[in-house]
Amino acid sequence: LTQERYPVKRLPFSTPSEADLAAFERIIPGRVVTDTEVLAASNVDWLRTVRGCSRVLLRPRTSEEVAHILRYCHERNLAVNPQGGNTGMVGGSVPVFDEIILSTALMNQVISFHSVSGTLVCQAGCILEELSQYVEARGFVMPLDLGAKGSCHIGGNVATNAGGLRFLRYGSLHGTVLGLEVVLADGTVLNCLSTLRKDNTGYDLKQLFIGSEGTLGVITAVSIQCPPKPQAVNVAFLGCPGFAEVLQTFSTCKGLLGEILSAYEFMDAECMWLVRHHLHLTSPVQESPFYVLIETSGSRAEHDAEKLNDFLEQALRSGLVTDGTVATDQMKLKALWALRERISEALSRDGYVYKYDLSLPTDTLYDLVTDLRARLGSQAKRVVGYGHLGDGNLHLNVTSEDFSRSLLDALEPYVYEWTAGQRGSVSAEHGLGFKKKDALHYSKPPAALRLMQQLKASWTPRAS
Ligand code: FAD
Ligand code: MLT
Ligand code: ZN
Repeated sequence: LTQERYPVKRLPFSTPSEADLAAFERIIPGRVVTDTEVLAASNVDWLRTVRGCSRVLLRPRTSEEVAHILRYCHERNLAVNPQGGNTGMVGGSVPVFDEIILSTALMNQVISFHSVSGTLVCQAGCILEELSQYVEARGFVMPLDLGAKGSCHIGGNVATNAGGLRFLRYGSLHGTVLGLEVVLADGTVLNCLSTLRKDNTGYDLKQLFIGSEGTLGVITAVSIQCPPKPQAVNVAFLGCPGFAEVLQTFSTCKGLLGEILSAYEFMDAECMWLVRHHLHLTSPVQESPFYVLIETSGSRAEHDAEKLNDFLEQALRSGLVTDGTVATDQMKLKALWALRERISEALSRDGYVYKYDLSLPTDTLYDLVTDLRARLGSQAKRVVGYGHLGDGNLHLNVTSEDFSRSLLDALEPYVYEWTAGQRGSVSAEHGLGFKKKDALHYSKPPAALRLMQQLKASWTPRAS
């Protein structure tokens, strides 16, 4: 699929032989997978838009096994594709050709948790939702949360520098990750698994691996700072008459909710249609052109409720919001979050999805959606906008019945040029992967690209 659709050439890597499989079997007995059904699932991405043809998947349990495998592959000139939960959105989690898939699925042990500092150290293959449950039982939360939590691995999150739904409150993984253990392409183990908050001894090498998407090495363990679990959580789901009101509601809510504001997400009417139609979710508010989801997280329930009510009264009185509902109990909280979190799932049931994940100035963030609707007309089935408005992050998605080359040509480079014109980012949080790697220059100057290439060439000379 990938090779047919994209003009890519296989680099001169070796092809895995029977002798290689036997060597892997000696390193990780019983965990060398060649079963065609398992491989079929691991060769295709979550969106089902790119597919490789790997014939072997390896499931190490320890960093030493990863090091042994990579050393062997380096000597034999075999290409390797690290894979976590395979929920990535840019086609980086699956092979392009016949690369060996190195899965972190069995590297799923918590190594330590410090109950005073909230520092969690774990293997890279731990599933995000399982880590959330683990730390919540101890009075803490993970600093990140995303719709893919049930499958994505913490190593995959770090490798993509995933943003998600708590970014507004807890910031980027560049701040919350305290340390990493990484195995480099030649098998060298880089143990920077620090638990220190402050450490100014030389270059902070771990930062280079956060968001490097497996291009510089395999992350085998993560040390991450978990904040205390908020005592009171409220979610308000509101209808707004226009995008200007979505923005004004954000300003009002920053002013009135202050330190308890923990998420500000938006979705347009088309997104609501998608989750209702494809997933049979029900909207809790009257039909509106836009919807916002506001979450507050604080330490005193009455205090937070009072603040939220003041905000809602003002927003309704001034016409910024036309209808709304609030939840404090777990069931309703989850139901409101599902309307926003499950948009990507609803989109994938609508047809082929062209995904754009852009950082843009918030004032003009929705203009591109309106512009594209006019530009594409009936060529597209749907053009929708949603995302992490509080972080200036638009998810612009276009669907069509099937993949269409002419629709892709109408979208690219137009979307990238439009974004570059606003000095935005062509990948806010999903990374570059296979699909966006050639668009990097729209967001980074030539000197930065050269430095990135030099760095990659010096750390992984065979893959450059
Ligand atoms: P994979 O998909 O398996 O891999 C992703 C990339 O990282 C690949 O390039 C892979 O080679 C590399 N990689 C994986 N593990 C390692 C490792 N241990 N060492 C080195 N490289 C590795 N992203 C957001 O930022 N915010 C969101 O809100 C968000 N929501 C999502 C919702 C849904 C429903 C889905 C399906 C995806 C969403 N994503 C979101 C995309 C996001 O990138 C991933 O969900 C997640 O971070 C990837 O983790 P993973 O374990 O699935 O990695
Ligand atoms: C989200 O915010 O829902 C995710 O990033 C996934 C997507 O963009 O569809
Ligand atoms: Zn997102």
